[in-house]
Amino acid sequence: MSAFSKTIAVTGGAGFIGSHVIRLFVKKYPDYRVVNIDALTYAGNLENLEDIDRLPNYFFEHADICDEQVINGLYKKYAFDAVIHLAAESHVDRSIMDPLAFVRTNVLGTAVLLNLSRAYWEKDHSNKLFYHVSTDEVYGSLGDTGYFTEKTAYDPRSPYSASKASSDHLVKAYFHTYGLPVVISNCSNNYGSHQFPEKLIPLMINNILTEKPLPVYGKGENVRDWLWVEDHARAIDTIFHEGKTGETYNIGGHNEWKNIDLIHVLCSIMDKKLGRSEGSSTGLIRFVKDRSGHDLRYAIDASRLNNELGWKPSLQFEEGLEKTVDWYLQNQEWVNHVTSGQYQQFYTEQYIKR
Ligand code: NAD
Ligand code: TYD
Repeated sequence: MSAFSKTIAVTGGAGFIGSHVIRLFVKKYPDYRVVNIDALTYAGNLENLEDIDRLPNYFFEHADICDEQVINGLYKKYAFDAVIHLAAESHVDRSIMDPLAFVRTNVLGTAVLLNLSRAYWEKDHSNKLFYHVSTDEVYGSLGDTGYFTEKTAYDPRSPYSASKASSDHLVKAYFHTYGLPVVISNCSNNYGSHQFPEKLIPLMINNILTEKPLPVYGKGENVRDWLWVEDHARAIDTIFHEGKTGETYNIGGHNEWKNIDLIHVLCSIMDKKLGRSEGSSTGLIRFVKDRSGHDLRYAIDASRLNNELGWKPSLQFEEGLEKTVDWYLQNQEWVNHVTSGQYQQFYTEQYIKR
């Protein structure tokens, strides 16, 4: 008999959000065995979990979710009670450069996990759960008004969002066709510690610090709804334990910012922290060629999660941004590790050659 009450596979646990989910679960539930399944792509980094990786309920398996044989071996070895699925290719700009990588991991990888979850669940129909972590980008792009609700029709417009939408549809199909117990959440843009500096906020922090140009796509008028990553992890905890099977929950911070306004706030926070004259970093802003198919606005209506499960965000944005900037300033070694090698090649393709 296992000493643990439950065994949970968390895929993509070495990435940004996954590492926060693992940290929360491993610490909060010492009786759960948490198995991190991660292929350690450019975005996966075991340093993200250094503070918890010696805890007795944490396990790591280096594996690609598309490799059915290897993943089957893990289902056999651990007899998972639940899967929290975060592993994905996650960056829109990379999906424009290499869409097939997104179809592979996000669609095929999800299908492999669903198929195995179904096969093991069908053996005894015991109390299992497949929790799929998805994005608000599946709903497409909003105009100046309105919000995405759980009933908004899917309208993905980038290879990234189309691959995530496909994976959501597969998850729903496994629920409707086979009865596999599933739950899905669709979250807005996350920010916080350990985010790979290809995404807006850490890229800008890094470039402000090193006094490199700040590449603002188009006119900087696109709007994103930002959520503190630890609030996302708390929402996943709540939905995992209290969400209704077969349902979808939107997660968001009611915290919309135009990119250009957000970058001005970041410049101001960093000018103060770095002892630079107020406004000096804004001189680094450069308006560059827009992203192809750039979605104008995302904004989540998270009232269902709030009304039914009592979740709400915990942190004001400016406080969260300060904490995020502090983390990056104090963890330059981490930044140096992840921005060496392959990152330089991506940066050149994305920002220098264009
Ligand atoms: P990330 O890119 O930081 O991490 C992805 C992780 O998945 C990495 O550790 C990587 O090594 C792993 N991975 C990639 N391909 C794999 C494969 N084939 N097999 C096994 N592991 C693989 O991503 P993130 O920002 O932490 O996002 C995690 C999840 O949350 C994704 O599913 C994403 O779509 C979703 N999401 C992200 C955001 C956001 O703002 N970042 C918002 C909403 C939803
Ligand atoms: P990003 O962090 O890539 O998240 P997503 O595209 O998934 O929302 O980008 C957030 C916003 O910032 C988006 O409107 C694109 C914009 N952006 C820039 O203007 N410059 C950049 O260098 C990056 C990476 C993003």
